[in-house]
Amino acid sequence: MYHSIKWLGNAVSMLDQRLLPSKEIYHEYKHFNDVAEAIETMVIRGAPAIGIAAAMGIALAAKTSNAKNISELKEELHAAAGRFATTRPTAVNLFWAIDRMKKTIAASNTFDELREQLEKEAIAIHQEDIDANKAMGNHGARYLADGDTVMTHCNAGALATGGYGTALGVIRAAVEHGKKIKVFACETRPYLQGARLTAWELMKDGIEVTLITDNMAGHFMKSGMIQKIIVGADRIAANGDTANKIGTYSHAVLAKAHSIPFYVAAPVSTLDPNTPDGSAIPIEERSVDEVAYLQGVQIAPEGIFIRNPAFDVTPVKYISAIITEKGVIENPAQYGIKGFLGK
Ligand code: MRU
Repeated sequence: MYHSIKWLGNAVSMLDQRLLPSKEIYHEYKHFNDVAEAIETMVIRGAPAIGIAAAMGIALAAKTSNAKNISELKEELHAAAGRFATTRPTAVNLFWAIDRMKKTIAASNTFDELREQLEKEAIAIHQEDIDANKAMGNHGARYLADGDTVMTHCNAGALATGGYGTALGVIRAAVEHGKKIKVFACETRPYLQGARLTAWELMKDGIEVTLITDNMAGHFMKSGMIQKIIVGADRIAANGDTANKIGTYSHAVLAKAHSIPFYVAAPVSTLDPNTPDGSAIPIEERSVDEVAYLQGVQIAPEGIFIRNPAFDVTPVKYISAIITEKGVIENPAQYGIKGFLGK
């Protein structure tokens, strides 16, 4: 069985997602800087997975430090935490995990305690994510009916998380409950997470998956082929507006036009009550080369203006329900997430 990320004690192992589906290659990182670079360069991606990676990176920083005293070590660890905070801006899980590690740093008072507690916390963040995905799957499976064809966008699966997946976790759970589910995976231009990763994951599981390009989605919704849509999330604002992979918003609008339920599956670590609405969510802008080149081949004229926002925001009015490990927020447009979080 493959893993997106694994703690090895003195190193972190990651499956290089840039090379999938053609090559399954794992890297071992021993230094926190290499883990940060792995997040930046998309060796690992997906909101929960990059949070776990940052936590493990900070735990590694404690292990490899040559600091002479505890205050020097704490300073180094805060610098490492700061480095992780610069890797990718949109997924709030990254900052949530860094905050947990910072709290652990603050609560520890000796070298040994810091190393042990940071390692323990990183392992806990990983395990909790897997458990959350399984719970999310159980809460969400009831929204998928036997015989449904479910469309998804990007990759919100085992690769994007500690394991099992959020949106794909709900699909997996429905299948485990004995339902026959077919999946339509949107290829997800420009980085092709749907074509390269979601298709790969689901085929490995023996779940029937059909790959379509993003611009085919409306056609298949209109023709009645798709009964449900389920996606993951990178950040859900207080009012329920949801940032996810670029293209998600268009699918949500089309879903509304065709009366197709549109579900978001995400752990509570993706909920961001401190961001009032979608307009305040920072959207990562990535290299124009991701648009100008397809697998190394230039597909646009040299010098053309290009934009490459990696995420878009789906207004909450298009979201039928938000499925979390702690339960489901039905009709999130009414109250947002604050009531659900008890804030
Ligand atoms: O740029 P990526 O590949 O990190 O974007 C990933 C997504 O948008 C996922 O849908 C989201 O992180 C949820 S993953 C469970």
